[in-house]
Amino acid sequence: MGNLPVAVLLAALVSASSTVLAETNPKFATVNPVPDAPKPAAADMSLPMPKGLKGDIEKGRDFYMQNCYTCHGVTGAGDGPRAYFINPLPRDFLLETSRQYLNRPALFEAISNGRNGSEMPAWGRVLNDQEIANVAEYVFQSFIIAGKKGRGKSGK
Ligand code: HEC
Repeated sequence: MGNLPVAVLLAALVSASSTVLAETNPKFATVNPVPDAPKPAAADMSLPMPKGLKGDIEKGRDFYMQNCYTCHGVTGAGDGPRAYFINPLPRDFLLETSRQYLNRPALFEAISNGRNGSEMPAWGRVLNDQEIANVAEYVFQSFIIAGKKGRGKSGK
């Protein structure tokens, strides 16, 4: 009987770790888990682009489909063709966690400055502010607030 609590504890641990894995893209989860980016409590999704910019979603889509999908995927699920080769994985925009903090200012900042220690480029080196706003607006509308589900995701 003394063994029972151990079994219960083990079962709890196993179910806790599979919950964490289900948060990531199941295709890569076991090999290459995505570390969670720092997330403030749910960001204000109504905030506008910085600097009075207004993104052009059509131009942003063109740019995304040429330059971003290779890592972030056509559906935004972080599963583009290059995703298999990089660590940490590209951000999956469809996850509930992504949707809680990637508002327009956060997207603008991340795309401009990139992410040190990952393969996320600092696009501010090659794009002007308007071009960054365009692709940020596309990501925001198509993936962050669109209510789409990731492929084979936990349904979040
Ligand atoms: C070479 C692969 C690659 C390309 C191309 C790429 N990204 Fe990323 N991106 C990443 C990786 C890897 C991360 C994850 C960084 C992390 O989790 O710290 C990331 C993270 C992000 C994030 C989230 C940052 C955060 O705070 O969580 C945004 C937004 C983003 N990328 C947008 C874009 C956009 C828009 C483009 C195209 C203009 C693009 N990325 C192109 C690899 C890429």
